[in-house]
Amino acid sequence: MSDHDRAASRATAVADAMGDIAMIDAEGRENGGIDRAGLERIKQRLLRLAEREDLFSDDDFPPPEAPGASVSYRIAQNADDELALYVQCVGNGTSAPPHEHRTWAVIVGMRGRELNRLYGPCVGAGEPQVQSEVMVERGTGVAMLHDDVHSIHIEGAATNFHCYGLAMERLDGRLFWHDRSGQWLVFEDDSQIVEARPDRTL
Ligand SMILES: [Fe+2]
Repeated sequence: MSDHDRAASRATAVADAMGDIAMIDAEGRENGGIDRAGLERIKQRLLRLAEREDLFSDDDFPPPEAPGASVSYRIAQNADDELALYVQCVGNGTSAPPHEHRTWAVIVGMRGRELNRLYGPCVGAGEPQVQSEVMVERGTGVAMLHDDVHSIHIEGAATNFHCYGLAMERLDGRLFWHDRSGQWLVFEDDSQIVEARPDRTL
């Protein structure tokens, strides 16, 4: 498949998935906010999209080479900035301390392994305690409500989908657990956001 054809197929696949996800999200909003069952449906839809790994190659979405760096390629975002999908790429390991998102978040695997530790809703309640661990890799994912806390641990390279109910640049004021000082502080996400929506880049 040519680069142009692959880009067109990718745009169609992403638009189809985001159309389905927008409907699930809208149903949730009508009922006072999305619940875990709704998030599970979004996760399943993203797992289907991740089966098209051929459309999301390292050539299309190069991982950063610097140790600890991560790049979030924005491949979809609605007009209200209320739904956004990123291809998040890590080339040489990274981690993120326990943090909240203040919107729902779904992560599904494509290449590599991203260990997620899940703590449940616990911001402000002292040191977070791990409730479960999920290795996000091809065929698996995690889904979190707005106040759920997770931490991320990646060795080597990983490329995953990250989908949020609000765009990353709008996720202000969320908190993370600062282990050294033993308190919750404002989280500055240092993942670089790169514009990669087809209507902005073709
Ligand atoms: Fe996160």
